Amino acid sequence: MIKSKMFRWIEVNSYEQMSEIAAAIFTEQLAKKPDSVLGLATGGSPLGFYKEMVRRHQAGELSFARAVTFNLDEYVGKGPGDATSYHEFMHQNLFRHIDLPETARHLPNGLAEDLAAECERYEKLIEASGGIDLQLLGIGVNGHIGFNEPGSRFDSRTRVIELTEATRKSNARFFEKEEDIPAKAITMGIGTIMSARKIVLLAFGDNKTEAVKRLENGAVTEEFPASILRKHPHVTVIYGK
Ligand code: F6R
Repeated sequence: MIKSKMFRWIEVNSYEQMSEIAAAIFTEQLAKKPDSVLGLATGGSPLGFYKEMVRRHQAGELSFARAVTFNLDEYVGKGPGDATSYHEFMHQNLFRHIDLPETARHLPNGLAEDLAAECERYEKLIEASGGIDLQLLGIGVNGHIGFNEPGSRFDSRTRVIELTEATRKSNARFFEKEEDIPAKAITMGIGTIMSARKIVLLAFGDNKTEAVKRLENGAVTEEFPASILRKHPHVTVIYGK
């Protein structure tokens, strides 16, 4: 059997339109497979998407009751209750509004004493779940996906990574003081992300134009981590400015 390959580019006129299209894709996934394993992201790109998913849930259009989720990343030293943690981001923007069971929500534990063991545990948990059916991604201006910074190996799995200055700067908006921006994070690896069956990547705004161009036409290189997505069998990029 020849495996069909799909790389779909959807250009949108507004952030809201991007969010709605992404929500429609995830709604369809949950309708077809209610016990889907979903990969989730944080940051500015998916905020509108989460808002729309919550709206649809509250309108009775979709349920997460049988779903399982895995987030891409968490800062080292951060966890539930900490306003700048990704645990809290997910709680505030999605989890507290929907019917996804608490035991089905997974994020790496940035507070783990043994971080290497935590990375291994997370990777094994994803595998044991049957693997990610649909993964949501944003993209960093430097091409990072998850926190896989330039130079990350394409076959990398969940691990601790040092954040680049560029990434710390662009995340500064979420922190009061510069010294509060974490230096490290746990992230799914590029290999982990590439194992997802389907991927949706969101990129909106002038500051993402270069990254989108490079994703479309640039070389496939570890210096621009997102470029590996061109080798993935099923990707939808929703982008605009
Ligand atoms: C978030 C993540 C990051 C972001 C990326 C874009 O969980 O893993 O890769 O998706 O930094 O961030 P925003 O959407 O804030 O521009």
